[in-house]
Amino acid sequence: MKNYLLSIVLLIFVFSSCKENKTEIKTAAITHQKIPEPIPFNAAVFNKKIDSLIALMTIEEKIGMLHGNSMFANGGVERLGIPELKMADGPLGIREEISRNSWATAGWDNDFATYYPAAGAVAATWNPELSYTFGNSVGQEARARNKDMLLSPAINIIRTPLGGRTYEYFTEDPFLNKKLAVPFIIGIQNNDVMACVKHFAVNNQETNRGTVDVLVDERTLREIYLPAFEASVKDANAYSLMGAYNKFRGDYLCENDLMLNKILRDEWGFQGIVISDWAAVHSTVKSLKNGLDIEMGTPKPFNEYYLADKLNAAYKAGEISEEEINKHVKRILGVLFQIKAIDGKNRTKGSLSTEAHFQDSYNVAAEAIVLLKNDKNILPLKVDGIKSIAVIGNNATKKNALGGFGAGVKTKREITPLEGLQNRLPKEINIKYAEGYLERYLKNENDQKEKVTLHGPTTVNKLDKATLDKAINAAKNSDIAIIFAGSNRDYETEASDRQDLSLPFGQDELIQKVMAVNPNTIVVFIAGAPFDIGSVKDKASTIVWSWFNGSEGGNALADVILGKINPSGKLPWTMPKNINDSPAHATKSFPGNKTVEYKEEFLVGYRWFDTQNLEPLYPFGFGLSYTNFEFSDLKTNKATYTEKDTIQISFNIKNSGKIDGKEVAQLYVSKPNSIVKRAAQELKGFQKILVKSGTSEKVTLQIPAKELAYFNVIKNNWIVEKGTYQLKIGNSSRDIKKEISIKIK
Ligand code: BGC
Repeated sequence: MKNYLLSIVLLIFVFSSCKENKTEIKTAAITHQKIPEPIPFNAAVFNKKIDSLIALMTIEEKIGMLHGNSMFANGGVERLGIPELKMADGPLGIREEISRNSWATAGWDNDFATYYPAAGAVAATWNPELSYTFGNSVGQEARARNKDMLLSPAINIIRTPLGGRTYEYFTEDPFLNKKLAVPFIIGIQNNDVMACVKHFAVNNQETNRGTVDVLVDERTLREIYLPAFEASVKDANAYSLMGAYNKFRGDYLCENDLMLNKILRDEWGFQGIVISDWAAVHSTVKSLKNGLDIEMGTPKPFNEYYLADKLNAAYKAGEISEEEINKHVKRILGVLFQIKAIDGKNRTKGSLSTEAHFQDSYNVAAEAIVLLKNDKNILPLKVDGIKSIAVIGNNATKKNALGGFGAGVKTKREITPLEGLQNRLPKEINIKYAEGYLERYLKNENDQKEKVTLHGPTTVNKLDKATLDKAINAAKNSDIAIIFAGSNRDYETEASDRQDLSLPFGQDELIQKVMAVNPNTIVVFIAGAPFDIGSVKDKASTIVWSWFNGSEGGNALADVILGKINPSGKLPWTMPKNINDSPAHATKSFPGNKTVEYKEEFLVGYRWFDTQNLEPLYPFGFGLSYTNFEFSDLKTNKATYTEKDTIQISFNIKNSGKIDGKEVAQLYVSKPNSIVKRAAQELKGFQKILVKSGTSEKVTLQIPAKELAYFNVIKNNWIVEKGTYQLKIGNSSRDIKKEISIKIK
């Protein structure tokens, strides 16, 4: 964390306050906050108080704490001053209040919240300080809504681009994942609210998520799927985790002794609580003994939960001891004391939907947008002389705070791309909006009522002639055309995986037809996951990638298009040319049926593409800027290190262009002639840095040599292999600028 000492206010360009919408959002006033150390958590300090409460509790009261007594809270013990533990989804911001007994809205009018960019966007910032800003901001909102636990962050590895929750997760890479998860959790928990890190673990697909048994070898588990969870516990002191729906090596994750007792507690020293995903529990005694603390679920009488009346019966039958029950109650009391929910003085009060939080949301959004192509330098758009702009595509007006299956945010502000342009463009420019494609779905045979569908929505891909004609006309008769395509949160959704990578709703045809009539066409994708945009890449000169990008997403996008923000986002995953190039698909090991075996092993994401020498459509870590950066003077502080050392790597980045900009320097490491099978290269460090036009900045990365270790299954331990390593600095996984070798002795 000490790497990120840029705790100053960085002004990239001129301040510009917007004219409309009364928003005070400042363009490019991106505040970098120093990431604090996590608050110490030692549950034992509360032991005395916990023991005296336990001594006063009946067995029924104890059991009441171990299961939901409403949709988003367990039972409290009012007479002893033990409150319910109140939870809220989730990763996009604080979900609206749900009824106590069903998924219906509680109908409040004071639960409007800030809609923050989805995790994919956070990852695309490659900026841990912004991840902290986000966590801290949403943590304040959680407190303002009087919550004790935020069901966030969601940090499962993106194993397949088709995963329905790709937009909700950060990345395909375990290093980037942990570097973003840790500050996010610290940010949330700084506000006397627990982060609930989910979904523990190997929950990498939605298809059959409630039943599928994930078979993943030990080395892959340790190197790819667990590091961010481990760092959440060890480096961020996460107070809670959510057990996943699926099985792992034969046992459901909410009753998985290996994961919950042995790895999480015995190995990592976790002292917090494990709650179940909603309706992910399948047993009483086994769940409790194997490490689950609270069962949460979907509507049915709460006393029918596995950890309710059934637990009482098991206790009475002598199948489970009071001591075992006490163990779980104590853990819950420990975290309630820690967040000052019991006995708390000066607990954070928080604030909701404030201008400051919209600014936080804007800051993340602005740094998340990725420039994919700018061959004719159309961007940044020079408005002088432009009289008309055709804004085309349903995504220009589509809102994504809500939608699909799963948690969204009820918000008073979601600036769409069209509104962003209206806010930011000079009034004289005539904006002609045309919907272009219609968002239409075929009813899936299996899509209703079932919690999990076999596959995601089926779309109608034939364009509507009248709608298309209007778009073509608008494009033909405008100086510039901007198409907003991609997907939305009804199409990318929890509980199902997408069927393929194709652009929905006939967008490919629309884009080609608009480009044919207007050579100055900018294509903007808004999506949370990779799509097949190969034919667009072939023909378009200008491509921008944005996300489900929060309350201020439209303003941020307009600021990038107009050059008030110099884009600095980088893809947090590989965009394949073809789905069958992706590792889970190339190995025919997705989605499985009763079991899914991760046959690609640790070659997930770019590790696979680089090792197999497969060219992706866009590589991991890729993103252009409106300026150019040059890397030079790569050095290490020594030539040879021991495994206990920290490798210090320094280099210069020069901004040789005309405007200021931020670059993400990425360090990839290879181990030539390794004694074990390895990926061609792995990300082991990165830093985002502002470099002013015409100047250079020196970057120094500190890489503990132990980061170079692989997991040795025989020794059941991390081993730093001796010998030569190749350190490569670049600005994407496929654009390595300089290399240097070091030795580990
Ligand atoms: C999701 C969780 C979510 C929970 C409560 C489940 O379906 O998997 O991520 O927190 O519902 O809404």
